[in-house]
Amino acid sequence: MTVPTSTSQREDEPFLPAPFTNTVPPPELIAQGAEALLYRTHFLTPSNPAALKARPSKPYRHPTLDARLTKQRVLAEARILVKLSALAGDPSNEVHVPAVLSLEWDTARKVKALGEEQRGSHGGGAWLLMEWIEGRSVKDLLRQWDGWYKNTGKNVTPEELARQEDEIKKLLRRIGKAVGAMHNKGSVVHGDLTSSNVLVRPFKDGHMQNGSGGITDGEATTHEEHSSPPDLDGEIVLIDFGLATQSIQDEDRAVDLYVLERAFGSTHPRQEGWFDAEVLQSQDGYRGSYKGANVVLKRLEDVRLRGRKRSMIG
Ligand SMILES: Nc1ncnc2c1ncn2[C@@H]1O[C@H](COP(=O)(O)OP(=O)(O)O)[C@@H](O)[C@H]1O
Ligand SMILES: [Mg+2]
Repeated sequence: MTVPTSTSQREDEPFLPAPFTNTVPPPELIAQGAEALLYRTHFLTPSNPAALKARPSKPYRHPTLDARLTKQRVLAEARILVKLSALAGDPSNEVHVPAVLSLEWDTARKVKALGEEQRGSHGGGAWLLMEWIEGRSVKDLLRQWDGWYKNTGKNVTPEELARQEDEIKKLLRRIGKAVGAMHNKGSVVHGDLTSSNVLVRPFKDGHMQNGSGGITDGEATTHEEHSSPPDLDGEIVLIDFGLATQSIQDEDRAVDLYVLERAFGSTHPRQEGWFDAEVLQSQDGYRGSYKGANVVLKRLEDVRLRGRKRSMIG
C-alpha cells in the first residue's frame, strides 16, 4: 500500500483536493452527490467551520472539456453566492446564503505547480470553500415534525396542535419570502429548489419561542425527536447554487417555484396541502415579497398544466 502524500491520494478514496489533505483535524465528508462532495472543514482556525464543496473531474470526459466545465460550474456558483451575499447589507434583505471564502478551479495546475505526480482522476477538479451554516435543513425539520405528530401530536390538545401547525405555516411563508427576495432582489433563479437546499439557522442570541423546545441540534435522539416538535425559528439560508442562473424571466421564476412545489409534494405529503396557501399565495410569502410576484404565480399555472400534460404523455 502506498502512503498518500500531502497532495495526492489513493484512487478509492473520495476526492479531497490539496491543501485540504493536510488539515488537522481532517475534513469530514458530509454528503456525496452526483456532482460534488461536501466536507465540513475549517477556515484559517479550527474554530471557524467551513463547508468545502469539491467537484472531482469526470474521468470519462475529455480532460480539456472537463476542466472547462468544472471551472464554469464552480465559478458560476461562487459568482451567484457573492452576488446574493452582497445583498446582506440591506436591512430589508430576506435572502441569506453562505459567504464564499476561497476557491480553486484547476487543482491539476496546482498539483503540477507543487511538483507532485497526478494520480488518476484525482488530478483535476475544482473546489469552493464557503461559510458553514449551523442549522438544519427544512427536510430534516419537517421529518422530525412528522415523527412528533405520529407519536405525540395526535394526543395533544387541539389548541396545541393548531399552534404547532401554525409554526410550520410560518416557516413555509418565510421560505416563500426568501425565494421571492432571491428572484427579485438577487435576479437569481435557483434551479434546484428542494427542502434539502433550504436551511434554517437558529438566531445567534438563542432566543426561544414560547416554549417550543429551544434550539435542537440535529443530534437529537429518536426519543427526543418524537416527543418534541423541532424549533422552527431561525433565519432561512438558501444553499446549493450549482444549477443557478441569473435571470429575471417570469418563466424561469415560475419553473423554479414548480420544481420546489413538486419536490415538496413528494417529500412532505403531510405539509403539501399548505404549500400553495403559505409558500406561494401568502402576503408574508412569495406573493407579497415583490411587485411582479403575481405575474410569476399566474405563469406557474401554465407551467403546472404543461407538467401535467407531459406526465400524461410520458
Ligand atoms: N454552507 C453549508 N453549510 C452547512 N452545510 C452545508 C453547506 N453547504 C452544503 N451543506 C450540506 O451538504 C449537503 C450537500 O451540499 P449541496 O450544496 O446541496 O450539494 P449537492 O449539489 O450535492 O446537493 C447539503 O444538503 C447540506 O446538508
Ligand atoms: Mg443539494
